[in-house]
This record gives sequence, structure tokens and C-alpha cells, in this order.
Amino acid sequence: MEIKSLTPALGAVVERVDTRLPLSGEEISRIRGWLMEYKVLFFRRQNLDYEEHERLAHYFGEPLCEPFVKNIPGHPGLSHVDRTPFFHSDLMQMEDPPLFSMLQMKSVPEVGGDTMFADLVTSYEALSEPMRRFLEELTGLYASRGYDFTTGGAEYAKQRAAKTGGNVEEILAAVQPHDHPLVRYIPETGRNNYWVSEAFTRSVNGLTEEESTALLVFLFRHQLDPKYVIRWHWEAGDIAFWDHRTTLHSGVADYGSSARNGVRATIAGGRPIPARACSN
Ligand SMILES: [Fe+2]
Repeated sequence: MEIKSLTPALGAVVERVDTRLPLSGEEISRIRGWLMEYKVLFFRRQNLDYEEHERLAHYFGEPLCEPFVKNIPGHPGLSHVDRTPFFHSDLMQMEDPPLFSMLQMKSVPEVGGDTMFADLVTSYEALSEPMRRFLEELTGLYASRGYDFTTGGAEYAKQRAAKTGGNVEEILAAVQPHDHPLVRYIPETGRNNYWVSEAFTRSVNGLTEEESTALLVFLFRHQLDPKYVIRWHWEAGDIAFWDHRTTLHSGVADYGSSARNGVRATIAGGRPIPARACSN
């Protein structure tokens, strides 16, 4: 295997690997190391079937059955990808948000339909030290876009269940907002990075509404500076494998009604760990 980075800190292509075949322990740990370093990895034209995709994903963790989308029967943790043309990390409102996603694009538009990724580590580390120390003390309220505080998510859960055939109670439980630290600690790298997105971070706890809005507007703009963002142009069969703790991603909805279909494996995470001293 070889690694070719796309930018110094974000995004790299893993070459000379056929992921249809089982990987060795050494290969898995090298890929894991590159994922920690580059935050999103790409494997070109792999064309995995469901079993192969599932096997590859599960080298890196346990499957998470997503409550809001149609899961692929017989393949827990595999689901069809949704259109999400805004920057987010998946399911940030959940108490235990997912760790990684591994998306294989099956059919791609002739032009357009790229996916963008933003680097939450490099942009966080570019903040001044007093600002980072300030953020490390804070928690925020995370709620999904469809969540309406007046109805408590009941309407959303009903609509979603009708669309996906899922269970209303399970969806309702999974859509409930949670508090998370604004800055999380990544044990594998010993570093901290902020973990906020305009799509999910509704407010900062303990600040006035005016302070919270001003701070979040600043962070949302800062984190999407072009120097922290890459854009992947898909070919059918490509795989993107990314860490939800250290990146945001967004589809680019520029392909009209052309087909763009992908299958995603989601890998379960755990409670975000608050910032720790001694890193960055
Ligand atoms: Fe997503």
C-alpha cells in the first residue's frame, strides 16, 4: 500500500490496495494510522459488494444501525446515502454519535455531485491560545436540523418513520438533543479539536444568546475557510472513509436530477471526551 496526500493535513488516497480482499492486521493498523493523520482517506474504484464493504468497515469498529434512514436488510450498519448539501458530522445530536463513516459511491452524475470535507483539527489549532482555552471550558446544545423544540421532535419522527419504515419510538429517542463539549479530545492522537457545525450546534451553554450567536457565527465561518476544505470528485466505486470527530462533510447539490447513489457503512462511536490539558 502507498499513501498520497491531497493536502498537508487533510485527505489522502490509499493506493495499491484491493479492498475486495481481506486485509492483514498490519494493513488495518497502517490504514488506521493514516486515517488519524489525514482524517479522510479515499480508495479509488474498489466496487465492493455489500459483504466486502461490511467486512472492510468492521475492521475499524462496530456497526451502527442508523435510525433515520433505510438500512439495507441483512447488513446492519449499511444504509443508502442521503442528500445532505450542508456541512455536518453525522448525528451530532446523539448521546453517542458515530465514529467513522465509509461511503462507496455506486453511481455518480456525469458532472458534479462532489463531496467536501473540512478539517476541524487544523482550523482549531489556528485559533489563538486564549480562544482555545476559552472554548475548552464550554459545552453546547446539539440538535438535528429537523428537530423542532416546540413539538419535541414528534412530528419529525412520524414523518421520518413513514419515509423509511423505521420505528417512531426509536427515531424519537435518537432525535433528542444533547449537550456535548465544544472541544473534544481524541485519544489516538492526544490532541483536542472543536466539534461544532452550523447544522447541529444550536447554542453555547452558559453564554447569553447574543454571546453564543456571535461566537458560533465566528466559528462556523472560520472552520470553512477554503484552506481547511478539500473536495473529492467521485468515480463510481470510489470509497471515502472519514473520522466524524475531526471533520465535517457536505455533499455538493449541483447535479440537478442526475442519479447519485451510494452506500454508507457507519461505525459506532461513544460519548465525546471533553478537552484535556497537555495537547496542542
Ligand atoms: Fe453525513
